[in-house]
Amino acid sequence: MERTFLAIKPDGVQRGLVGEIIRRFETKGFTLVGLKFMKVSKELAEQHYDVHRERPFFTGLVEFIISSPVVAMVWEGEGVVAAARKIIGATNPLTSEPGTIRGDFGINVGRNLIHGSDAQETAQREIALWFKDEELVAWQSHSKAWLS
Ligand code: TYD
Repeated sequence: MERTFLAIKPDGVQRGLVGEIIRRFETKGFTLVGLKFMKVSKELAEQHYDVHRERPFFTGLVEFIISSPVVAMVWEGEGVVAAARKIIGATNPLTSEPGTIRGDFGINVGRNLIHGSDAQETAQREIALWFKDEELVAWQSHSKAWLS
């Protein structure tokens, strides 16, 4: 089954949006299979954003991610990678559609609340980077019978 990696960034945690953000994925019908509240090391933040290493915002982005705790999650479901990106909204919250997490709660690209893997291969890389196998829980929600 398809899985994606999501992380509520320090601004989402500091603003008390953890419950609201998780609710959106839960009520959509996706299944939570991994969850941890953690402070991120500089090494992990740099590896996570490795693709942006040469970009001008890289240093500030890493400093932001390690500044305060995040909620790291793995969610499962058919089409979850692309669907989560839609629920999250475009990178710049100022232009993200209303109804998306970033569109509803943000205005600054550097404070856009949540990360979501952008493709299935990226999701696999990020899940392996953030979670050990034994931290992921395979389970079946009985309520899913009502969604399919
Ligand atoms: P990116 O992978 O392009 O966006 P997304 O998170 O939507 O997949 O960029 C990673 C993060 O880098 C982004 O969430 C916020 C930050 N960022 C900036 O601070 N300034 C920028 O100009 C861009 C493009 C991104």
